[in-house]
Amino acid sequence: MSTEYAVEPLSSSRFPEAATLLARAFQNDPVIASILPGILPEKRAHKLAVMFEEMLAVNSRWNEPLGIVDGGAVRAAAILHRPGTHPLPLGTEIGLLWRVVRRIGPRGLTRFIRWSLRIGRRHPTTPHYYLETLGVEPALQGRGLGSAMLRKIAAVLDAAGDECVLETANDRNVVLYGRFGFEITREEQILGAHVRFMRRRPVM
Ligand SMILES: CC(C)(COP(=O)(O)OP(=O)(O)OC[C@H]1O[C@@H](n2cnc3c(N)ncnc32)[C@H](O)[C@@H]1OP(=O)(O)O)[C@@H](O)C(=O)NCCC(=O)NCCS
Repeated sequence: MSTEYAVEPLSSSRFPEAATLLARAFQNDPVIASILPGILPEKRAHKLAVMFEEMLAVNSRWNEPLGIVDGGAVRAAAILHRPGTHPLPLGTEIGLLWRVVRRIGPRGLTRFIRWSLRIGRRHPTTPHYYLETLGVEPALQGRGLGSAMLRKIAAVLDAAGDECVLETANDRNVVLYGRFGFEITREEQILGAHVRFMRRRPVM
């Protein structure tokens, strides 16, 4: 691994790899654990990989996923929605859920929909970016890849002059996002997880 991490759009040929990376990164996330309770981590990772693969493919119609490819492999990936591209059109959202359910079954579906509705309600009504997903290969976490991704994302946001929102249920992530200008706007218990809603205003 080099220490200078280039953050670039990920090509579609990289999506399956990015999806398994995101699945590994998120398999112990508190929100995922409450959407898919009582499932062994490996099985949860498989379900997540399918979900992320479908999400990457669908969202790439509007937004190219960002990532770090280093040593020939995807090491970090993010889905950042531009203003007006989230939530997806209803028909597209239903199609996405249908494909995921067909591949991995309906378990967690009701909870996932409840989660999506609860967070969607809290998003601003004014134009904004939405950082839906950011993950780093677990073995490489804590080495600056996530910060490199956020530096690039902050540059995109400042160039566009737009706000960005995200949510997280992880205390350490709150600290990391705070370093890149995100502030907590609201805290809520959702599906048993302590969710922090965060917003970043652009630096002009
Ligand atoms: C959150 C995440 C993207 C950060 O990327 P990273 O490469 O580990 O972060 P960096 O090395 O650039 O920065 C380290 C900081 O990230 C935060 N952090 C969050 N989770 C961490 C983890 N598992 N390991 C190390 N740092 C983590 C801490 O604030 C840490 O600062 P500290 O070392 O002073 O405590 C990555 O740890 C990850 O993929 N975690 C699992 C998935 C996740 O929670 N994604 C965010 C969803 S909101």
